[in-house]
Amino acid sequence: MNTHELFSLKEQVAVITGGAGWIGSHISEALAEAGAHVYVADINEADVNACIERLRSCGLRADAWIGDALGDVSARGMIDDIAGKAGRLDVLVNCAVKTKSSELDTVSFDDLQFSFEAASACLVTAQQAVIHMRKNGGGRIINIGSMYGQVTGYPDVYKDLVPPNPIAYQAAKAAVHHMTKYMAVYWAKDNIRVNAISPGPVPNPGKAAYEGNPAFKTFNARLSQRTPLGRVGTPDEFRGPALFLASAASSFVTGQILFVDGGWTAW
Ligand SMILES: NC(=O)c1ccc[n+]([C@@H]2O[C@H](COP(=O)([O-])OP(=O)(O)OC[C@H]3O[C@@H](n4cnc5c(N)ncnc54)[C@H](O)[C@@H]3O)[C@@H](O)[C@H]2O)c1
Repeated sequence: MNTHELFSLKEQVAVITGGAGWIGSHISEALAEAGAHVYVADINEADVNACIERLRSCGLRADAWIGDALGDVSARGMIDDIAGKAGRLDVLVNCAVKTKSSELDTVSFDDLQFSFEAASACLVTAQQAVIHMRKNGGGRIINIGSMYGQVTGYPDVYKDLVPPNPIAYQAAKAAVHHMTKYMAVYWAKDNIRVNAISPGPVPNPGKAAYEGNPAFKTFNARLSQRTPLGRVGTPDEFRGPALFLASAASSFVTGQILFVDGGWTAW
């Protein structure tokens, strides 16, 4: 296999949950550009339609799945629905997320459960995907974690600007990292590789909490200061890592958490 073939996803089918989002839309595009037939699975109908239109206008193969990718029944149904329509399933990227902003002193049992639904969805989509992947002789699963699944935040980065990154989110991402390793070990016999990408700070200026907020610039500066590369990341910087883990280029890589964080977790 030459290097071009190593990174090719020709004839393959990929599902990206949260595939119309800030980072997810770049992953959807990267996998489609590598030749995959991508299914952009997201709850935000307008964003999915815009994403599909953009991909198709570039001549790429893309279809939409609009719905809840983070519920047990709906997430399993999503996988079966897509695999049924496409006739196979090779790559699953779990990028969708949900959490509630809450402070440590007041965070509730329900807040924690709500955030953990996103982690649980990584497990149930994977379980369902594996049924279809086994039929093709294998597959790749990529869970999107977070640097905050590995280390916690610096309180002074958030102080007086924006709410702190929630404990429930961080705990759920730690669970995603651990489940990634567990799945990798037990599904290796089926030639299914499971890895995680753990993003560092990639703030989205269009997010409700930041839009038009003058504090955003200061927040960005504080995040940049804590990052060895001296800046925050951009969503297109997840294309390469996602394609690497989705393709044969990473054929001997499983159970790994790939930190794409500008070095945040290195010091
Ligand atoms: N942006 C960052 O700085 C950063 C840092 C660390 C980790 N991450 C992780 O990267 C991933 C992508 O984050 P992002 O910044 O692109 O966020 P985003 O909000 O832009 O993308 C999330 C996408 O998930 C979709 N979604 C939400 N609930 C859904 C549901 N129930 N069913 C289907 N789709 C649903 C949203 O519509 C959205 O398109 C997430 O897992 C996030 O935790 C992001």
